Amino acid sequence: MAREHWGTRIGLILAMAGNAVGLGNFLRFPTQAAQNGGGVFMIPYMISIVVIAIPLMWTEWAIGRYGGVKGHGTTPAIFKLLWKHPIAKYVGVLGLFVPFVVACYYVYIESWTLGYAVMSIGGMLPTEAAASAAPGTAQYLKPFQDLLATYTGMGNGNIYQPSIMAYLFFLVTVALNVWILIKGISGGIEKLAKLAMPSLFLMALVLMVRVLTLETPQGSAVEGLNFLWTPDWSQLSNPKVWLAAAGQVFFTLSLGFGAIITYASYLGKNDDLVLSGLSAASLNELAEVVLGGSIAIPAAAAFFGVMAAQQIAASGAFNLAFVSLPAIFANIPMGSLFGFLWFTLLFFAGLTSSVAITQPVIAFLEDEFRLKRPHAVIATMTFLFGIAHVPIFLGKALDEMDFWAGTFFVVIFALIEVIIFFWIFESKRAWEEINRGAIVKAPTIFFPIIKYVTPLFLIVILGWWTFDVLPGYLKNGSWTAWVTRELLVGIGFFLCFLVFLSDRRRRSK
Ligand code: ALA
Repeated sequence: MAREHWGTRIGLILAMAGNAVGLGNFLRFPTQAAQNGGGVFMIPYMISIVVIAIPLMWTEWAIGRYGGVKGHGTTPAIFKLLWKHPIAKYVGVLGLFVPFVVACYYVYIESWTLGYAVMSIGGMLPTEAAASAAPGTAQYLKPFQDLLATYTGMGNGNIYQPSIMAYLFFLVTVALNVWILIKGISGGIEKLAKLAMPSLFLMALVLMVRVLTLETPQGSAVEGLNFLWTPDWSQLSNPKVWLAAAGQVFFTLSLGFGAIITYASYLGKNDDLVLSGLSAASLNELAEVVLGGSIAIPAAAAFFGVMAAQQIAASGAFNLAFVSLPAIFANIPMGSLFGFLWFTLLFFAGLTSSVAITQPVIAFLEDEFRLKRPHAVIATMTFLFGIAHVPIFLGKALDEMDFWAGTFFVVIFALIEVIIFFWIFESKRAWEEINRGAIVKAPTIFFPIIKYVTPLFLIVILGWWTFDVLPGYLKNGSWTAWVTRELLVGIGFFLCFLVFLSDRRRRSK
């Protein structure tokens, strides 16, 4: 059975950009930036792009292409090719674990955006209630806060009770993901990217232009931009800001997720990756810094003032996206159309990323167990559907999964992959791999950066994490957090077992 390939270079770049551009760009980035002092955050963010993002991106593309040429698209098998050690395949399990666990809650949040898009255009949002409250007051947000609470059923309790509507849209979103994934790499994922990515950029542009012209007695969008873009060098010694910036760079570019590796495994042996990787990452940064940074925070700054915008962002990404923005749109002409554009934009961003983070487990079943694509997709999505019920119904399980898989293990995984590729596989060979078929060669300065600076930087980040964040986090465990952690351990062992079986299967042939 021949492995699939991307149809066109532009399709590949858009798919990789779709992999990266996601809810992280429009929800997580503005929240992280606002919570970490705006301009202060942007300096470590930019530095992280150079010392973490570009090196890791080339590393992941090269690892993926190397494995794909040999018939493997996931790290349990690829790490074994790069590092002849019995433990290598189990270390590679992280490349399945991280994207799968993130996908289990990501698809659910993605389904809210679809639900809200339909409610916006169908006139089902409490726009009148929001519009009749005095601008800039808490009352203004209340109808949307209540709606989000009823829709998701999330509160302070241990068990959530989502609305029937939320559950139905979740089912539709899962079905849509299955449908696209079954159609395959070029027939499903690439086609989706070619349609969704240009539409997404267009919608974001329209929203950005609308938001930047907002001005009320409370403030203006430009004040929000100033807040994000006025650097404050004095805060640079604060580890919290560095951790947040590095974490955001990982999440937004899907680095340390295994998802880029799997997508890159569908490249040809001599296909360029230096320029293609940079192009996809640049599209992501355009979507994040320019578009993502110019919508949610500036809009909130215009309607509530910079201070209040910061407070809203600090209360979480969901408040910014599902409460503050629709409340603002309720108060401008053609608000339901802008609301629809906003949530459809989020949905497209989510969909192109969710297919990417589901693909590694599917590829693993196809490559290592020779499952036919539809069977691999159904098996993976059934498993995902089952696990997704934990964040849907169990209080704070979503945060717990995001903390471990979406934040902690991505850094560990990234450190491991760079060490395996640049130290164990050997740096000269790794560098040659990166540059094979390159339209423009990677600047040589990146050789020492990838070999020394990136791993060092990652070790420092992990150290801070382990000593600074982790103890506090582990202390505050509720029983739901405990159950979620046990579940994550269970998923990890199950994936190790599958890797063990695949290895036995290969040996017995
Ligand atoms: N990179 C994806 C996002 O930003 C996961 O949402």
